[in-house]
Amino acid sequence: MLDCGCGPGTISLGLAQAIAPGTVTGIDREASQISIAAENALKGVIANANFQQANIYELPFADESFDAVFSHALFEHLQDPAKALQEILRVLKPGGIIGLRSPDWSGFLIAPTTPELDQAMSHYKWLQQQNGGNLEVGRELRALLRQAGFINIKASASYQCYEPLSLIAEYLALQIEVSVNVPQAMEKEAYDLKLMSNALREWSEHPDGLFAQAWCEVIGQKDINS
Ligand SMILES: C[S@@+](CC[C@H](N)C(=O)[O-])C[C@H]1O[C@@H](n2cnc3c(N)ncnc32)[C@H](O)[C@@H]1O
Repeated sequence: MLDCGCGPGTISLGLAQAIAPGTVTGIDREASQISIAAENALKGVIANANFQQANIYELPFADESFDAVFSHALFEHLQDPAKALQEILRVLKPGGIIGLRSPDWSGFLIAPTTPELDQAMSHYKWLQQQNGGNLEVGRELRALLRQAGFINIKASASYQCYEPLSLIAEYLALQIEVSVNVPQAMEKEAYDLKLMSNALREWSEHPDGLFAQAWCEVIGQKDINS
């Protein structure tokens, strides 16, 4: 199995345990993530997982080398998901399985809101668009698989409540704070960005705080005749 955009390998290592004695190869374009994933494999004494730095658009593997390809929380960051799917098709064996999961940021629920918190969430979505990502890719995964030529496609969706809120709040606050360096964000004063990141951190400590993310999942198969 290949895990694309594996990050620290948390999911890859769970998959490796589930499919042993099969093997999982995790790839990520960030060397730092690959080091963490390899360390986690060592710590967990999981021998059937390996990790290497690679870009999903240019996978360093021969044609038809994997039975299954998985990718979690990557496609919302990609500028060209169709190109990534062609690369996945190339490395999948005929009859091989693809599984993707990405959030759809138009479906999240957040409470209790304030104008600053709403502004923070809008700013984060805008930032991701500037980076070429598509925060609504979740709902498009099914269509993307069909257009790429996959068959037997099944789509589903689910909600996940994030606990503790501080994890998502801190992630979003940091993204907003570093956006002071994004040229298109220059018109936003550093002061406004700080108001937004503060609003996120305050919200994360609210006793009634809730963040529910909408996740979309899709599985499909490479045609055996392709
Ligand atoms: C949100 S993380 C998801 C990590 C992991 N899959 C998970 O769900 O816990 C997205 C990961 O995709 C990686 N990534 C982004 N663009 C990539 C690309 N073009 N090729 C490979 N990895 C990429 C990032 O470095 C990051 O580690």
